[in-house]
Amino acid sequence: MCGIVGYIGDGNVYDVLVKGLHRLEYRGYDSAGIALVAPDGRLNLYKAKGKVSNLEDYCRDKDLRAKAGIAHTRWATHGEPSDSNAHPHFSQDGRIALVHNGTIENYKLLKDALKQHGCTFHSETDTEVLVQLIEYIKINNDCSLLDAVREALKQVVGAYAIAVIERDHPDTIIAARKSSPLVIGIGDKETFLASDATPIVEYTKNVVYLKDGEVAVIKRDEPLKLVDLENKDCDIDIRTLEMSISQLEKGGYPHFMLKEIFEQPNTLRDCIRGRVVDDGKRILINGILDNKEKFLNAKRIVIVACGTSWHAGLLGKYLLQDMTRIPVEVEYASEFRYSNPVLDDRDIVIAISQSGETADTLAAVEIARKQGAFVYGVSNVVGSSIPRETDSGTYIHVGPEIGVASTKAFTGQVMVLTMLAAAIGQLRGTLAPEQVAELGKYIIRIPDLVTKVLGLAPQIEHLSLIYTYARNFLYLGRGYSYPVALEGALKLKEISYIHAEGYPAAEMKHGPIAIIDAEMPSVIIAPNDHLYEKIVNNVQQVKSREGSIIAIVTEGDKEIRELADHVLEVPAVPECLTPIITSIPLQLLSYYIAINKRKNVDMPRNLAKSVTVE
Ligand code: AGP
Ligand code: GLU
Repeated sequence: MCGIVGYIGDGNVYDVLVKGLHRLEYRGYDSAGIALVAPDGRLNLYKAKGKVSNLEDYCRDKDLRAKAGIAHTRWATHGEPSDSNAHPHFSQDGRIALVHNGTIENYKLLKDALKQHGCTFHSETDTEVLVQLIEYIKINNDCSLLDAVREALKQVVGAYAIAVIERDHPDTIIAARKSSPLVIGIGDKETFLASDATPIVEYTKNVVYLKDGEVAVIKRDEPLKLVDLENKDCDIDIRTLEMSISQLEKGGYPHFMLKEIFEQPNTLRDCIRGRVVDDGKRILINGILDNKEKFLNAKRIVIVACGTSWHAGLLGKYLLQDMTRIPVEVEYASEFRYSNPVLDDRDIVIAISQSGETADTLAAVEIARKQGAFVYGVSNVVGSSIPRETDSGTYIHVGPEIGVASTKAFTGQVMVLTMLAAAIGQLRGTLAPEQVAELGKYIIRIPDLVTKVLGLAPQIEHLSLIYTYARNFLYLGRGYSYPVALEGALKLKEISYIHAEGYPAAEMKHGPIAIIDAEMPSVIIAPNDHLYEKIVNNVQQVKSREGSIIAIVTEGDKEIRELADHVLEVPAVPECLTPIITSIPLQLLSYYIAINKRKNVDMPRNLAKSVTVE
């Protein structure tokens, strides 16, 4: 995610753009930049690492006169946050400036080709390749900016929302989108462009939501023009905005947490993009390909993390042991760092952290590196401390997670761990190519299956009313569903403040079953996997003690439906993919119960989004 703003009109271009960036800062805040086409024909480019306020400080003594402009607040995916990696990026001759939201999967291929034609690059980003490609096409075909943009986008594989301006045509902005959002605001003799309507709504309520494959030609004093990549005119569908700015920031949802729960089909697509290719036949993880020897020779994997990331790590154990046959240990980073661990250079330590700033996990990384282990990061925030301290890693690419209770980051972490396990298994030969292909085929389907599971929301919202005033909950699961039980319990605890405990279902008979009674609801994750018959027994054990049961089952389940008080059906997937599917109903259940209790789900009491202290 990131924030794009563009403006052509008689208003103060700089003010409109910077105000718009502030409105979009929740979409990314690694760096910010602005490109202004000045009345004297110069194209002025200003950018700064960090928040939009840093850009404003930088611009204090600059020439801010402009007839048109584009601006960007970045959420880095390729190239860590820095002044040079900040957008806008510009062409060799400085005549074209571009901002981009998304990822260009084939940027390395394009960059190598452009370098062979003498292009030089000033950043590590994938985005800069696009503006250089546009310039290359424009010069070599002596064509318009619009034609160059259309031709360049035909060569791009990946996701983009872009805005492009050029010095020689100050009255024009070209915009285009594929998989990343762009909205155009139609004002009175002025036109706005933004990643969402938040920066636009205070100026006009007439908007056009750009569709995938469309290119917008925004000209001063001319009607908006939309074409496709073949230059064929597209219909213009002007909508009227009804939402407030606060609602728009949350995508129309009442809370960031609910928005992020419903974002998961798209964030999982972003996470998978470029990593599961050839219709799922191949799984490509750069961090594995660049360190083959380490993963071929590894004798042990130790996973260190905290909280929800630790639950993802526990799933990582099941995934990695299943697919790579490497023994895996999972440690709370806070315990690991004081346990006097014994590591050597044949150990791989995987550090999982959404924020990349969790103090205990960072400390664990430093200890692991000192002992010679190969440290691999799984993070969301590009350029954060933990990725900078690790030897290699994989970003989960789910965009900023604003809600303190982690949802989309959890499923993104689990998806990355699944792909990592498959890639390592493929490398070590413990996973046959046909097994990889079978798994890859399902991975590609996961986003759509998550969309289907999100369809359970009304049923779960209704169900939540029954359990809102329970004082305790048990979450039970076995195998891959055990870490899901732990995560479901944590979600409920941290936003509803109800005590909840996740437990391995088979362990209940060793004591905890004594607490089961009619006042103790149990959420039992029971997909149709290799432990199904066992979990049915566990459900019967709870039932026989008058426990009320909410069961997450595979579509078409018959046995548990007879035993449970409430059943939530999810689609059938390979066992190793069930956690991503079964965790979604638990996110929704905890959200709705917390809402019923009027809790602040985005900022629960006593919690912080990133625990940067011990
Ligand atoms: C999860 O909902 C919590 N917000 C918390 O447990 C979080 O997962 C933990 O603090 C670890 O954060 P990290 O992933 O940024 O390292
Ligand atoms: N992939 C581009 C970059 O890393 C854009 C990221 C974004 O969407 O902000 O700069």
